[in-house]
Amino acid sequence: MTTLHVGLGADSYDIYVEGGLLKRAGELFRLDRKVLVVTDDGVPSEYAETLKAQCREGHVVTIPQGEGSKTLETMGMLLRVMMAHHFTRGDCVVAVGGGVVGDLAGYTAASYMRGVDFYNIPTTVLSQVDSSVGGKTGVNLDHIKNIVGAFKQPKGVIIDRELLHSLSPRQVSNGLAEAVKMALTFDETLFSLFEAEDPEEALERIIVQSLKLKISVVEQDEKEAGLRKVLNFGHTVGHGIESLGLGYYHGECVALGMLPMSSPAVRERLIPVLRKLNLPVTADFDREAALKALSHDKKGESGSISAVFVDEIGSFRMEKLSGDDFRRLVYDAFPQV
Ligand SMILES: NC(=O)c1ccc[n+]([C@@H]2O[C@H](COP(=O)([O-])OP(=O)(O)OC[C@H]3O[C@@H](n4cnc5c(N)ncnc54)[C@H](O)[C@@H]3O)[C@@H](O)[C@H]2O)c1
Repeated sequence: MTTLHVGLGADSYDIYVEGGLLKRAGELFRLDRKVLVVTDDGVPSEYAETLKAQCREGHVVTIPQGEGSKTLETMGMLLRVMMAHHFTRGDCVVAVGGGVVGDLAGYTAASYMRGVDFYNIPTTVLSQVDSSVGGKTGVNLDHIKNIVGAFKQPKGVIIDRELLHSLSPRQVSNGLAEAVKMALTFDETLFSLFEAEDPEEALERIIVQSLKLKISVVEQDEKEAGLRKVLNFGHTVGHGIESLGLGYYHGECVALGMLPMSSPAVRERLIPVLRKLNLPVTADFDREAALKALSHDKKGESGSISAVFVDEIGSFRMEKLSGDDFRRLVYDAFPQV
């Protein structure tokens, strides 16, 4: 078993990585209490049941799959289940699912009686490489993503590659886009691995290395005062495209969003890697609508947009651009419309 430590003072915790670990969750997490197990109906139900069997008193709640469940209404329902079963401050919540379940269950844990313990067992590549680490939890409100939430570090995370076998190849690629992002901004060696090897075969190595990189960023900047913004590489334009509702997954939008922010030399190596992963390298979309939709928090008071650029693989630069310069970048990268 590989154990990765996340050093955040009193909020420090460990991430346990090994195939088959779900069955041993009771040895790693304190489940000898009331446990709210949150999952969704796209996740094989036996995962939550396996976890429940290790709890002294487990209550499984299965929410409908999809972003539409990441709401205050669903959270209210979970809180009511906890109330109905007389959960106290000493009880806990465990997420068994992708980023939707993790964000929702984490925020529920942060809120119930001002905070109970939270554990995360991510079941998608995206949540294993990215969303399960860093403590960002929350829900959407009025279709604004993640507008309500809290920093809530888990007490422990299990990364079990066996849980990924039931994922579609498209979902696997979707998650790997976030690992490509980490490689481009921090780690040329990891990027070369994508070039030289079969990423599916190297999946656990990719996940562990991406986690190490993310842990290092989060340890330096837990609350996103500075460095952590680098994790938004590809996300500014990506969110613009995602908000158009064209059916692209989040990671696919990030793949597209990385292109305008990469130098021509970087793009030359990035495009073959994205193709290898069956991620999009071009898209037919309304560029003005996407630019308009770039979330307001990306725009400074002057109308400038903060963005992360990669001129050389393994490094990054943050810069504020005027709206016009930003528009030019997007038009240059997506000239076809
Ligand atoms: N907190 C963070 O730092 C952070 C970072 C990135 C993304 N996110 C959030 O994560 C969410 C996206 O996460 P996601 O991509 O995991 O999406 P998701 O949770 O919606 O999961 C994608 C789909 O896969 C299904 N699924 C999950 N595990 C499965 C399995 N093992 N086998 C088969 N199907 C399975 C789900 O039912 C769902 O339909 C978004 O809400 C995003 O905002 C959060």
